[in-house]
Amino acid sequence: MNERAFVMIKPDGVRRGLIGEIVSRFEKKGLKPVYAELKELSEETARTHYQHLKEQLFFEDLIQYITSGPVFAMIVEGRSAVANARALIGPTNPVKAPPGTIRGDYGSDIDENVIHCSDSFDHAGMEIQLFFGKTGMLQKL
Ligand code: PPS
Repeated sequence: MNERAFVMIKPDGVRRGLIGEIVSRFEKKGLKPVYAELKELSEETARTHYQHLKEQLFFEDLIQYITSGPVFAMIVEGRSAVANARALIGPTNPVKAPPGTIRGDYGSDIDENVIHCSDSFDHAGMEIQLFFGKTGMLQKL
């Protein structure tokens, strides 16, 4: 079934010039970018996005990292977009991410793991609204 997922290339991925390579992997998988913005996150947006982690010891470091430079945030569309995007990205910790996944190939530490993808269809809708303020972009096709 066609659906939309929210994907964000984090500041380390943008700084290292990986946008083209990463977008190409999504396209080859059949996940089409339908909207994208290169933008710096406000601290408020970052804290809202990661509010479920606010009790974690790494929370302040995470906010500092994610606001340290522009991110490339995009909506991708395709069959089972959330599940397929997460399979492409690999596990959260690049040390445990297999080669062939984006984090496995480009990440080396959990502190800077290159990319984020929403973990469910519902969260994709919330993140699209938070980042792009465009409600209704997640309708099923
Ligand atoms: S996941 O991948 O979203 O399901 O993982 P989750 O546990 O929900 O979110 C963890 C996010 O926090 C970032 N982060 C860390 N996680 C664990 N340990 C350390 N030290 C750490 N530092 C940062 C991790 O990259 C996840 O961010 P996102 O953007 O969700 O991938």
